[in-house]
Amino acid sequence: MQAKDIPMEENSSGNEVSRRDFLSNAAMTVGLVISLGTAAIYGLKYLVPAKKKVKYVDVLVGNLSELPDGASLEFVDGLGKKAILINNKGKLSAFSKICTHLGCEVEWQAEKKQFFCPCHKGYFDASGKNIAGPPPRPLDKYKVTVKDDNIYVSVREV
Ligand code: FES
Repeated sequence: MQAKDIPMEENSSGNEVSRRDFLSNAAMTVGLVISLGTAAIYGLKYLVPAKKKVKYVDVLVGNLSELPDGASLEFVDGLGKKAILINNKGKLSAFSKICTHLGCEVEWQAEKKQFFCPCHKGYFDASGKNIAGPPPRPLDKYKVTVKDDNIYVSVREV
């Protein structure tokens, strides 16, 4: 077969394209697409931060025998934020002292069994739920466990 006999195709501009040129262009196009896809995937890897697993550790904050009903105990969590442990009728709970409105420090009012934020008169009940004023959500809560007489609060590991 002579070179003149090789079938030719026409491209959109009306020029004839040999089968060899067509396959060569197709292979380059596929290679380009694969390269760009790979570059995009690796580029995203650096643009999207990897999910970091948060670890918690139990920290001893006090003794049950020293925290009678109605008493409270302040502590600092793993991120350096002020927090409070309360004994409400034998139920131990720990909360962040940071108000969920604009970050002022809340006060535990043991006689009323509620938290009060003096900045804008926000109120939270003994379970940390926002009950009055501008705070949009409950106080952040910590997991509390008691082993023997020891009270542990689960805080973020730094
Ligand atoms: S900061 Fe607590 S009510 Fe506004």
